[in-house]
Amino acid sequence: MKKPQDTRDIRRQYISGSLEKKQLNQNPTEQFGLWLNDAVDANIKDATCMTLATCGDDAMPSARIVLLKHHDESGFCWYTHYQSAKGQQIEQNPNASLLFYWHNLDRQVRISGTVEKLSAQTSNHYFDTRPQESRIGAIASPQSQTIPSRDALLQKVKQQTAAYAGKQITRPDYWGGYRLKPSSFEFWQGRADRLHDRFQYKKSGDTWTIERLAP
Ligand SMILES: Cc1cc2nc3c(=O)[nH]c(=O)nc-3n(C[C@H](O)[C@H](O)[C@H](O)COP(=O)(O)O)c2cc1C
Repeated sequence: MKKPQDTRDIRRQYISGSLEKKQLNQNPTEQFGLWLNDAVDANIKDATCMTLATCGDDAMPSARIVLLKHHDESGFCWYTHYQSAKGQQIEQNPNASLLFYWHNLDRQVRISGTVEKLSAQTSNHYFDTRPQESRIGAIASPQSQTIPSRDALLQKVKQQTAAYAGKQITRPDYWGGYRLKPSSFEFWQGRADRLHDRFQYKKSGDTWTIERLAP
């Protein structure tokens, strides 16, 4: 049998690029948009995947991947089950953090801020664009609750598919979108010998200050 690799020996150099303060857009949302475009152009699989970190009343941080569905000056949005573990944590504590890692470009972006629910109208609009199977899935799956078996889940999907046959599937009120309104960003570009470039944007009033951080 092949010996498992010693993970201490797994390392590489980060040599895809560099980052200077003068290259950065003064507006972090625009800077993010440029980097997201680069990730899409580089054919990075799941370029819109982001790790969402939340922390509820128990002070135990929790992280998981969700998909960025839209973003603008007002914030970064994703969709989920409001009664899921993350939904409950956001209810208890709206502070959260998002993280993107675009490995082919050796780039990481961190975004922190406060989370709010999207309007029912915005959630309805997005729900209506989802494929039929995904809408049924959202209705049939009590996300983050324990279930007896996969068969039980498939049975619920079957029941809901039959119940909605020929009918419009409208968004259940326990499913919808959230927006993280950023108060800080960090753009990280990997460099050789671990001497990476890092720039932090912090909001003061209506303006963003940009500072270089040690790697
Ligand atoms: C690639 C990928 C994309 C995902 N996208 C979403 C998403 O957009 N919304 C969502 O609720 N869960 C998404 N998930 C599942 C979550 O990571 C997580 O399992 C689920 O939301 C339950 O998390 P919670 O128990 O912490 O609430 C995705 C997982 C992966 C790996």
